[in-house]
Amino acid sequence: MTLLKVKNLKVYFPVYSGIMRKVTGYQKAVDDVSFTLNENEILAIVGESGSGKTTTARAIAGLVKPSEGTIEFPKPCQVQMIFQDPGAALNPRQKIREAFMEPLLYFKSESPEQALKKAEEVIELLGLNKNMLDRYPHAFSLGQKQRLALGRALMIDPKIILCDEPVSALDVSVQAQILTLILNLKKSLGLSFLFITHDLNVVQAIADRVVVMHQGKIVEEKTTHNLFLNPEADYTKKLLNAIPGKEYF
Ligand SMILES: Nc1ncnc2c1ncn2[C@@H]1O[C@H](COP(=O)(O)OP(=O)(O)O)[C@@H](O)[C@H]1O
Ligand SMILES: [Mg+2]
Repeated sequence: MTLLKVKNLKVYFPVYSGIMRKVTGYQKAVDDVSFTLNENEILAIVGESGSGKTTTARAIAGLVKPSEGTIEFPKPCQVQMIFQDPGAALNPRQKIREAFMEPLLYFKSESPEQALKKAEEVIELLGLNKNMLDRYPHAFSLGQKQRLALGRALMIDPKIILCDEPVSALDVSVQAQILTLILNLKKSLGLSFLFITHDLNVVQAIADRVVVMHQGKIVEEKTTHNLFLNPEADYTKKLLNAIPGKEYF
């Protein structure tokens, strides 16, 4: 079943110049992009820096207004987003317990008891310990903070999690742990992920399907297996050949 449908999405940013700061053109960050995300699927968006990946996710999350096109999904509260810098998602003055309970208390008006019970369930799903809820963010490693950012997203039972380069700031062994957690959450909760990365090794480890973006456009879309086996777009081949230590063509 299709959960998310992005159709002919365009996000153009005005470019200002001259002393009067006049609009002299548009930066076509996302330029006519269409794709779908299915239930219980991990779809990767891959492409070099500046290709429009983040802007696509921000448009889906409602953080930037599309210039054109449509985005259809079940309910806005069923889409959550996590970012490259997990520290930025956690308030340094707030215990993890409060960070986790907050969305339930304020957006779903659940009781503190219900919210705490859910927070305890979620932190265990992350492979962390219940008593860590009493800590502040500074008492966690970067990898643990990314787990917690995922946990906070899980508190309101989303169906889709948008992940913008969630492992790019982590070293390789910690990356692998987070990727394993995401795969486990997909399996145990039936979640779908839109997983943005510039790293094809990460794509290969985690994604069911891939869209390749270049200069605001999708240049190729395939299952992960077929992308590595039979890439067609020149840009995809270029990306594959740039993987250190691997020689494809
Ligand atoms: N708020 C903004 N205002 C103006 N230009 C932007 C804004 N956000 C992104 N851009 C531009 O849009 C293009 C795509 O950016 P982005 O979506 O961040 O790419 P990626 O995540 O693939 O690196 C880049 O050229 C970037 O400079
Ligand atoms: Mg980005």
